Amino acid sequence: MKIVTVIGARPQFIKAATISRLLIDDPDIDEILIHTGQHYDPNMSDIFFEELNIPHPDFNLEVGSAFHAVQTGKMLEGIETILMEEKPDWTLVYGDTNSTLAGALAATKLNIPLAHVEAGLRSFNRKMPEEINRIVTDRISDLLFAPTPTAMINLEREGLLSASFLTGDVMLDSTLFYREKILKDPDLYKMKGLPPEYLLATVHRAENTDNINNLKNLFQAFSESRQAIVLPIHPRTRKIIANAFRIPENVHIIDPVSYLQMLYLTLNAGKVLTDSGGLQKEAYFLGRQCITLRTETEWVETLHDNWNIITGTDPQKILDAIRSKAPSSSQNKSFGNGKAAEAIVEQLKSRRKPSFL
Ligand code: UD1
Repeated sequence: MKIVTVIGARPQFIKAATISRLLIDDPDIDEILIHTGQHYDPNMSDIFFEELNIPHPDFNLEVGSAFHAVQTGKMLEGIETILMEEKPDWTLVYGDTNSTLAGALAATKLNIPLAHVEAGLRSFNRKMPEEINRIVTDRISDLLFAPTPTAMINLEREGLLSASFLTGDVMLDSTLFYREKILKDPDLYKMKGLPPEYLLATVHRAENTDNINNLKNLFQAFSESRQAIVLPIHPRTRKIIANAFRIPENVHIIDPVSYLQMLYLTLNAGKVLTDSGGLQKEAYFLGRQCITLRTETEWVETLHDNWNIITGTDPQKILDAIRSKAPSSSQNKSFGNGKAAEAIVEQLKSRRKPSFL
């Protein structure tokens, strides 16, 4: 069986690694990897392939940065050519980026069965480009792998239940797998020059970075917290801040870090402040309280007992959340048992000729 996997942005490298690890050992499956080149800086891309042992991409489309239509259009053209040549049994896409959408559109237009990992996520905020990518990808997928029961409910509401399968979250698989590695040899991942106690922050969503007032509010709250804040900076955010305002002294900006370094930083952080989807879950899986710098979350399972507090960019809400007592309750099992990747590969194999096509 042949599977073409389409990835392109940082969180997809992490998700795809959990499945590629299984496919490599499977004599019945041949995986062809397309990297769209959406993320291209070495510390946004290469470092993940090396650290997570992801096979070298068979194709790199090198599309780089551009406005949505141009970026997605270039990807579509490149992916279509490869799919016509490779004629896979499945095209596999992950998450909600422009690379996901392009892979999905190219495959369905060629009548190639399409499977979506992390299906059914909804923020119900159509201003987010990711929300549009999710809705369209789910609608045209032949097989939908939902990470949580809430995602299954969303798919059912949209009439997609018959093609949906609750697998658990591959990011839980990944966090559990690599946490062991880090705990065995933490010194390998320790970074020099960082304060011993800190809050960990990330900011990269267009809704925050493209609105300078939102960005200013976030940094005002960071400054007023008077706590050391470590912030691995996304290139998008770096560019926008560069000429806009001074970074407060308690905020330690560092270059983007590798996946294992990020898990290490999360494990050792007091709390996590983020507008990322993935980091909200990693914080939860690693028992760190998260403050979500958005007005909603797709990962509603993390909200119980204030494990995740939604603050948007309101400085006072952020400060209150930073000062609030962290929860001690145990976490729920909504994200599966750490074996989502196995369940997904099993389904891909058994539904090789999907009955619903
Ligand atoms: C993308 C995804 C987002 C995901 C995020 C993870 C979409 C619409 N968004 O956002 O869902 O959470 O990835 O990181 O697909 N840039 C560089 N070097 C790089 C990559 C990007 O400098 O290696 C800069 C570019 O100037 C670009 C900006 O970052 O303008 C944004 O890149 P883009 O590809 O639009 O996506 P992200 O913001 O990373």
